[in-house]
Amino acid sequence: MASSISVILYLVSAICFIMALRGLSSPDSARQGNMFGMAGMLIAILTTIFSHSISSYILIIGGIAVGGGIGAIIAKRLQMTSLPQLMAAFHSLVGMAAVCVAAAAYYAPQVYGIAEIGHIHASSLIEMSLGSAIGAITFTGSIIAFGKLQGLLSSNPLIFSGQHKLNALLGLSLLGLIILFTILPNSFVFWAIALVGFALGLLLIMPIGGADMPVVVSMLNSYSGWAACGIGFTLTNNLLIITGALVGSSGAILSYIMCKGMNRSILNVLLGGFGGDSGGSTQAAGSNADKPVKSGSAEDAAFILKNAGSVIIVPGYGMAVAQAQHTLREMGDMLKKEGIKVRYAIHPVAGRMPGHMNVLLAEANVPYDDVLELDEINRDFASSDVAFVIGANDVTNPAAKTDPKSPIYGMPILDVDRAKTVLFVKRSMASGYAGVENELFFRPNTMMLFGDAKKMCEHIIQSLDH
Ligand code: TAP
Repeated sequence: MASSISVILYLVSAICFIMALRGLSSPDSARQGNMFGMAGMLIAILTTIFSHSISSYILIIGGIAVGGGIGAIIAKRLQMTSLPQLMAAFHSLVGMAAVCVAAAAYYAPQVYGIAEIGHIHASSLIEMSLGSAIGAITFTGSIIAFGKLQGLLSSNPLIFSGQHKLNALLGLSLLGLIILFTILPNSFVFWAIALVGFALGLLLIMPIGGADMPVVVSMLNSYSGWAACGIGFTLTNNLLIITGALVGSSGAILSYIMCKGMNRSILNVLLGGFGGDSGGSTQAAGSNADKPVKSGSAEDAAFILKNAGSVIIVPGYGMAVAQAQHTLREMGDMLKKEGIKVRYAIHPVAGRMPGHMNVLLAEANVPYDDVLELDEINRDFASSDVAFVIGANDVTNPAAKTDPKSPIYGMPILDVDRAKTVLFVKRSMASGYAGVENELFFRPNTMMLFGDAKKMCEHIIQSLDH
């Protein structure tokens, strides 16, 4: 009876997780999606605690208190801009958990009901070795991704000769060890699987450049889901299987969407050394160094904006750093009151995480109808008076179209240069994340507005008021 109730409760919890994913697919239902996720997790934890023969409640409650406490503190202190590295750090924990659970299941199979020591079912051996291998890859891979995103490691791709061959060799060894473990299970092979997995995680992520890190984080998210799914089979826990599969598949779909947004194939990301090529930036800087740059003040910008018929605002990472979204919305509202058509253009990889700009604009209560994706708005730049680029850089850089040597070559861009006037709000002439100089800064229809994004918006608002 108790077990059928727990099956039903696990099903309810799984449905909550599916509703959570559905909610998170759009900014206006994202809060509700989060609520579903939290409810699903609460039901899952309570069902697990009350439906199994628990040997130590103190350990479980202590674990939840410590883990939950640390999580709450991090969530409160975290800057929005650090979210990608936090995700990478959390994925590493999921990976390590998968390795630990697999080890526990191997050393104490009777506790998990999968056999006596030395006589574990072959299916369980496959599940635990796969869970451990994927978990180990996720663990070290996520640590490298964290280091690169946090700036602790260079975001440049670390490439050496014979790298792909070494990775292929390790991949094949991992497969061989998993087969060996299934036939002849022993501790040595179990730990060899984990060790090769740790090495493979390091070697797979090291050569990936900074600009591709978002795809990597989302891929590691997917791996961590599949690792949890594998462990779900070992523990015969249906909820973990469903949840792991949800995380695994949604992470894979997100990686695909992001690759599409950057016009790259997933294989190209995994095997190439895209991004972080600072050499490109130096070269470009040299070529434009003598060209004049037109810069203006907030008053100049206010004058241009007031006299425009339509304005497209292009937010980027700098808007997030300056937390300028509220002031920007205020500025947009003032322009709308003057009868000017104001819309916001979102590039799929603007900022530092998927949906970064959408989240910030939603937080500032920018109406969803005014926020348009690249495909929806790109053509409209040609018929717009002003492109107001605030803290964005790479996502507007024409080198992505014109320079095959550029690390961002092939990425679709927002065609801001087609607008009559382009206003760039940023603090200096510095390049963006990919380290590539933007030749738009030197174009005759560009006016640079040097300063912090928030302060610049405040000054423009003051000027619009007069
Ligand atoms: P970036 O190309 O990184 O440019 C941001 C610009 O903001 C910088 O050039 C910087 O110039 C300016 N800035 C920084 N702080 C500012 C402040 N307080 N006020 C005003 N401006 C400020 O950003 P983007 O155009 O959004 O492109 C995103 C890049 O990040 C892409 O290369 C993408 O591949 C990569 N990436 C994306 C993600 C995801 S999933 N979105 C994750 C990781 C990496 P100054 O220093 O001169 O002010």
